Amino acid sequence: MFVCTRFLALGLGVVILAGCTTTGPDGAPPVDPPAVAAAPLGYAADAAFAPWVETNHGEVRRVATAAGCVALTFDDGPHPTLTPRLLAILAAEDVRATFFLVGQRVQAWPQIARAMRQAGHELGNHSWSHPQLTGLENDAIRREISRTDAAILAAAGVRPAIIRLPYDASSARVRSLMDRPIIFWDVDTQDWLNLRAAQITANAIAHARSGSIVLMHDIHPSTITAIRPMIQGLRARGLRFVTVSELLSGQACDGPTVAASPRHATLQE
Ligand code: NI
Repeated sequence: MFVCTRFLALGLGVVILAGCTTTGPDGAPPVDPPAVAAAPLGYAADAAFAPWVETNHGEVRRVATAAGCVALTFDDGPHPTLTPRLLAILAAEDVRATFFLVGQRVQAWPQIARAMRQAGHELGNHSWSHPQLTGLENDAIRREISRTDAAILAAAGVRPAIIRLPYDASSARVRSLMDRPIIFWDVDTQDWLNLRAAQITANAIAHARSGSIVLMHDIHPSTITAIRPMIQGLRARGLRFVTVSELLSGQACDGPTVAASPRHATLQE
């Protein structure tokens, strides 16, 4: 049995397990835990992650040292009418976010991708046609990524530094083909479930904490309605907004640590 008797909380929100012992069956004397070999990382970019970058099968889900900062992320756009509305709200609130863009939608609406870049948002790669990459051959997977890189570069003048896999359909083979960090999340607003806007807002405010990556989609009207009260609620909890790459770089996140707040989970209307 693996028992941890205490935690050491260090500065900047880093928590290290300590005092962990292993006991044998039937109360046998404790023995030292076995040496833990480094886990297989799945893809090369993961090898560069510091210990405080929490991962999920090698995908970034949270940056534990990013005290006071949170990254809002929006997938599957751009959407021709909803994304401009979202950009206007983010501008009015002076918030920078991260968009994981579908390449063929960038090709259709390049001016929206350009507006994102000009407003200081981060543009990530979310594949060309949003397939389950696990069902594709290696060459097809590479094309999904490279065509999207090219579309975003043509539209906005920047090559995405990060990737999010459609449906999070992931495998060691898919991850091995990615040449940059794959971004997961630790807070799912569940806006993809056709929730009411107030519930989306409540989900984010309850569960976001220092270093969180919040999953949303700018293709749902309810998400757009949810975003302004969400921003205001997260600010009231002491969080401010950075892009995913800013989270990973550790820059500008030096505020007080903010924990999750389950009491905010109760929907208030
Ligand atoms: Ni998606």
